[in-house]
Parts: sequence; C-alpha cells; structure tokens
Amino acid sequence: MLDEERRQRGNIELRHGSTARKERYNEAADWAIVGGLDVDMSSHLSDHQEPGSTSIRYGKDKRQKAVIQHDPFSIAFERDGQVQIIFNEHGFINLEHWRPKVEQAEREGPDDDDQSTWWEETFGGNTDSKPKGPESIGLDITFPGCGHVYGIPEHTGPLSLRETRGNSDGAFTEPYRLYNTDVFEYELNSPMTLYGAIPFMHAHKRDSTVGVLWLSAAETWVDIVKTRRSGQTTRDTQTHWFSESGILDVFVFLGPKPDDLTKAMGVLTGSTQLPADFSIAYHQCRWNYMSDDEVKEVDAKFDKNAIPVDVIWLDLEYTDDRKYFTWDPDKFQDPIGMQERLSLRHRKTVVLIDPHIKSTEGYSVVHALKEEDLAIKDKDHQMFDGWCWPGSSYWIDCFNPKGRAWWSSLFKLDYFKGSTHDTYVWNDMNEPSVFNGPEITMPKDNLHYADWEHRDVHNINGMTFVNATFHALQERNPQRPTRPFVLTRSFYVGSQRLGAVWTGDNRAEWGHLKESIPMLLSLSIAGFPNSGADVGGFFGTPSSELLTRWFQAGAFYPFFRAHAHLDTKRREPYMAGSPYSGIMTRAIRLRYQLLPAWYTAFYGSSTDNAPILRPQYYMFPGDEAGFDIDDQFYLASTGLLVKPITTEGATSTDIYIADDELYYDYFDYTVYSKPGRYRIVAPLERIPILAQGGHIIPRKDRPRRSSSLMKYDPITLVVTLGKAGNAEGSLYVDDGETYDYQSGAYIHSNFVFDSKSSTLSSKDLTVEGSMTRSYHRSMAEVRVERIIFIGAPSEWQGKTSVLCEQGSGKHERRIEFNAGTNGKAAWAVIRDPKVSITKDWMISL
Ligand code: NOJ
Repeated sequence: MLDEERRQRGNIELRHGSTARKERYNEAADWAIVGGLDVDMSSHLSDHQEPGSTSIRYGKDKRQKAVIQHDPFSIAFERDGQVQIIFNEHGFINLEHWRPKVEQAEREGPDDDDQSTWWEETFGGNTDSKPKGPESIGLDITFPGCGHVYGIPEHTGPLSLRETRGNSDGAFTEPYRLYNTDVFEYELNSPMTLYGAIPFMHAHKRDSTVGVLWLSAAETWVDIVKTRRSGQTTRDTQTHWFSESGILDVFVFLGPKPDDLTKAMGVLTGSTQLPADFSIAYHQCRWNYMSDDEVKEVDAKFDKNAIPVDVIWLDLEYTDDRKYFTWDPDKFQDPIGMQERLSLRHRKTVVLIDPHIKSTEGYSVVHALKEEDLAIKDKDHQMFDGWCWPGSSYWIDCFNPKGRAWWSSLFKLDYFKGSTHDTYVWNDMNEPSVFNGPEITMPKDNLHYADWEHRDVHNINGMTFVNATFHALQERNPQRPTRPFVLTRSFYVGSQRLGAVWTGDNRAEWGHLKESIPMLLSLSIAGFPNSGADVGGFFGTPSSELLTRWFQAGAFYPFFRAHAHLDTKRREPYMAGSPYSGIMTRAIRLRYQLLPAWYTAFYGSSTDNAPILRPQYYMFPGDEAGFDIDDQFYLASTGLLVKPITTEGATSTDIYIADDELYYDYFDYTVYSKPGRYRIVAPLERIPILAQGGHIIPRKDRPRRSSSLMKYDPITLVVTLGKAGNAEGSLYVDDGETYDYQSGAYIHSNFVFDSKSSTLSSKDLTVEGSMTRSYHRSMAEVRVERIIFIGAPSEWQGKTSVLCEQGSGKHERRIEFNAGTNGKAAWAVIRDPKVSITKDWMISL
C-alpha cells in the first residue's frame, strides 16, 4: 500500500475554496475487504540477501517470496522459486504528488506537458473543477510466462482479455476502462466501461494461476500487452494499471490454481450471499406491467400454460410519478391485494427503487432527505440537483451511516405502504446514472459524507446503495429476519455479498446472447457468481428463435430473468406459440428440475465464493486448448457441461471435452469417451448439455408452479458413473428463506457411489446446532424417489433387486437395467428406495 505523506497530513491547498478532504481516499478497503488481513507473523527475511535487494519469505510452507529491488525499485513475487508477478519492472510506478498550479506564463524552462486537463476538464457541458489537481496513481504489473489474463469485469468481449496496444490480431486500441457508467446501447467486443467494476485479474499459464486485486474506487484503466522474452517460448503479459485518484493498494495472489484465487478472494472480500431459494428460480420482468390487473393476468397466464415462475417484477411505472415508496393510485389501486394473490401462489414481487429522489413538494421522502441532510452534495456543498427518471432529483448518500439508517426506516411495512414481506427490491441506475451529468453520471467534484470527492469513491458508490437496501430488507422483519433479495446494476468488489447483478441494457441480438456467456464467466471468476443477463435482450424485439435460444441459455444463468424495454412487444414465454412456447417452457422446467443442484452450488459458493459458472481454464488449468474457450461452461461441481446455442439457425454445435473421462448427453445418454471436439446435434428443442462421469446430481422432477411448492418434493439422484466406475455428489437443503441454517437447520448430504463395494451411500455432513433436530423432523418425509445410474456396468444386467438400509430398517427394492444401444450408455433405475434425505443411508447393488 502506498500513500502520499503530504496529502496524508492534509498539508496541501485546495483550489476554488473546496471543502473536499485533503488526503487520498483510503477507505475502499472498509467497503470491500472483510477478512484475511491478519499479518503473517512467521514471514521473515530470507537467509540469503543479494546486495541492493531485500528478500522476504512468507506464506504457507514459506513457498512464497517477495524480492524487493531497491534501485530501480521493483518487487518480484515468487512461488516455489519461480517469479510469478513483477511490480514495476518497466518503471511505470507513479503517484502524482500534490503541487500548486503554476500558470503557463510563470512556468520556467521548456513546456513539454500539455496541462490543459490537469486543473480543470470539461466534458459534455460539465466542468470538473479538480480542486486537488492531478493525483493519479499507476503501476505496471508483469506476469511472466502467462499468456492469458482474465477478469476485471465488467466488459464485453472475450473472457481471455485482449491486448490493448500493438497490432496483434484483435487487439483493442484503448485500455480496459473501469468507471461505472449507465452506457446507452453498449458495444460488443469492446474494452469500454460498463455498469460495474471489479479490478481483479487472473493471470494464467499451464498449471499456474496468479492474480492481483487493484483496490482503487476511482476511474481506472488497464493496459494489456503480451510479449515474448528472448529465448522463451511462452508469452508474458504486461499490464499497466492507473487510476485517477486514491492510494496505491494492491493485493497479490500466488495461486497456484484458479480456485486458490477465488477462495482467497472469498476470504478477503466475502462470499456470495446464500440466496433466498425463490431468487434462483425464474423471474418474469418487463418495463412495465402497467397495472395490478396486468400483473394478475400475467400470473394467471403462467399458471394456465403450466410454466413455473417465482417472481413478477415491477419496473419504474408502478410508482406515483416516479416517487419511490409510493404506488400509482390509478393503475395500482390495490398493491397489497395484488401481492397477496401472488403470495398465495407462492410467488414474490420485486419492485424497482433507484437512488435518485424526486425533488417535489409534498413527497415525504424528499422532505426527510433534505431535513436530515442526507443527500450527496455538489462542489459548493449544496445538495446536488441532477436529472433522472423523475426529473429534478437528489441522491441519497449511502456513505453516510445516518443515511443508511434512514433508508432502512423507509422499508418498514408501515412506511412503505403497499409493500409486504414478499416484496423484494431492484436497485437500478446506481452508478449513479445522472442524465445531465458528465458521461451520464455524477460530477467528479461532488462531495460525499466526510467530504470525500465523488471521483475518489465513484466505483463504490453503487455498492453502498445496495448495501443500504440489503440491510433495510434484513431489518424489515426483526422478529424473524429473512434473507434479502436485491438486484443491482452497478457493482464493486464485495457486492457479491449483497445479492445478484445483471448485465444491464443488452439488445435482442444474437451477438448479445453470445457475449452474455463470457460476461457472466468473467463475473463468476472475479468473485460475483450470482449474475445474469436480460433474457430476450432489453432493446428490440427478438425473433422467436432467438428468444427460445435465450431461454435455453438463461436457464443456466445463475440469475435467470427475462426483461424487456418499454417500447418492445410483449414476449412472455407463453406468447410465442408453438413450438417456441413449449420449448421455452421446457427450458424453464429444466431449471426447476435442477434447482436442488443449483441451490447446492450456491451453498458451496456462499462458503468459498467458488464460481458457479466455471470456464474451461478454471476446470482444467493444465489444458492449453481450453484457455481461450468461453462459449461453454461447467455448472459448479455438478459435472454438467453446457454449451448454449448462440447462433441463428444452428442445428448442431461443437463441444470441447478436455479430460479423459466419460461424458453422457444429458438427455439421451450418448457416450463420449475421449477428450476432443465433438459435433453434437442441437435442433431448436435441444440444449447441448453433457454430464461428466463421476458425479451425483440431485434433482426434483415434479413440475410445479413455483419453487417453494417443491419444498417437500422427493429427490431424484442422477449418478453418472465415471471411467473408474465411481461417482460423488452432494445436496444442501435448508428453508431457503431465513437464517435458521446458521443454527443448524439444514441438511447437507454427501453421496458416494463406490464401485469396489458396489454401494451408493449418503452421509449427513450437518454440524448439529440448536435447530438441527426440529428442522430434520420437519423434513423427515422428504425422500429419494428415484436413482438413475447412467453408464451402468453390464454386470448389473441380471440384477433385479438391491438392498436399501437406513437406520435399523432394511428392505429390498427392484432395479431395472436398460442396455445401451447405438452409442448410448446403459442405465439402471431404482424406484422409491424408501430413504429419507435427513439420515444416512446405503444401497448395496
Ligand atoms: C435501466 C435498466 O437497465 C432497465 O433494466 C430498466 O428497465 C430501466 N432502467 C427502467 O427502469
């Protein structure tokens, strides 16, 4: 961490009489970092020190070493004797020290610098007064031997980041930019900035992954250049990071595996929230359902068409004249009645609440905001007045603890009339979007709580708003706190703890469907796994084929929501007619069928922030052929390999298998037994999914209207036998709603099929807590209703029964064997083994 002494001491002069804080912004860690900062007391100076350098050994088994070169300054980080990361190899380190402005006429010597933007900058009619003058920070970071770098969302373009200089094929001509912005109609394949920023990068080479986290909340740029050192066959990636302000605070991750990075990032910045169960099911949104009757109609049509849905969303237009916490009195006359009707069907409502507060008479929210002095200020310390959906507006400053407490009070059911315990929240426009601001956002010289300039905190700002909403929802029901659900558009390091994110205003085009996959993979590996893209595309009207393919892809987005712009045609999945509606319905049902696996994946991720969508390099860090692949992914540790179709008219696709394992087509059990590229058929009704051998996947196969109606449904286990004949998997279940799991109210089963003993067993991993017994009692009737073995060995052919044991009970059940034909795997089924999921069991085959 590097700071500037003079600014730290406040020993500088600000221009224009500004009241901004004088020191560099040093509170990013307070928002982003939650742990992992214990000092390693066992680190020590190495026994051998080269002249002119200092070398320190640290980390587990002292495998890591930092060699600090004194002059010229650089730091080489080594793991197992090999240099992995070098700071300042190219001497780009920079911390623009404070100096007073010297007018051009007074400057001495040759005037090489164009200082026109140092002291003031005008953009789109807005002038940034830059009261602190130039204060950027920068550093070059080299990753020797790493030809691939990933991460630093949010951008379009490939997962493996492109070069930003030079003439190589496909190189961008500008650095990747991180400056949270409401971008209108964003470009594909571009380093341009989008709505959120996670300055975390993985650098990868065969069997080694390292990374850096650049903790600045200011506008940041990252240049990427790949070079070859003489005599080396592999390429280095040289990166150059620079931010407009803040301190230089960089975390180094030495791997060696991609999951070491995501785990360490989880320790440091927290893991994804264990989501409420409904929030990982299907969400139906559009801008807008215009009345409570329309909402009821949509709800009824889903039922009529037997399409499951858990949440119906209300965009902007539900409000009374864009005043949040109010309802349009004509169109939404009975919001409680409307929501009670949804609740009766076990469905929830999500309403949009943005950070801008309409400036108008007679609106108690804006009145209190002014009264309590809780808004973001302009450079002259007056409430900043900008333009957004409601017209002239103010912005709540969630950096202010009092602002957060006040925000919580607005969500109390007796204040937010018309809301219920089943109302959840969508925080949009929180970059923040300011229609008349520079680049549609807030002036950088605006002032936040404690007089930090907006420029210093810009990329964190959106997260502070979600944080306030998250706590507000948590506090809404103090007797029995339930897990909040908040969707955000803007994000920063740490936002994963607070809810889900989506990729903003995409378009109803095939290219946007295609690029949604690398965008979500990038979020996933950078620590924000709970993410999705608008299914169907926000702007424009998708063809029925595109919409269908988008539903098929969306069924594998961690956050699965269809959304559409106000001006587009209605496109709920039941609208398209045959065969499209039926195919979309099947995609949604597939999501519901796999919800136990999804929830288990989220549970895993909530403990170590593991990605839910996993790219090829993450799964197979040693397989170079996979380093560029970003159009297929694995679903957590289920072994499911998904390759969504993202091109028009496709009836087949290539899928790449890296490992020497059996893979089975998820639907018809066709076997793929060697690594390589396979062409697989994918007519419109087919989502290409392979199941890697060696896994046990929990499912619920009974179609229902919504996920909570599946709560007590029995489980189906799909056992995909690997080459060694074994398989393993797990199931995590809790009430999906409260925090009782923290007192042991959950079931966590580990399933193992062992080919040697020919047994399938389930072991309960629950760590007993005060609520374990009562919860297990309430779930005792939930049983395994079917076990499907894919790749069943031929020796099972003559088998007719198996022995099932649970506790002292023993009974025989039938097993049916089906021989594999035409390249398809043999499979066997045990129906109703009569075992509850709450206790250990074993089946001997
Ligand atoms: C912008 C969001 O990105 C979009 O999803 C939403 O529909 C509009 N704001 C209106 O609230």
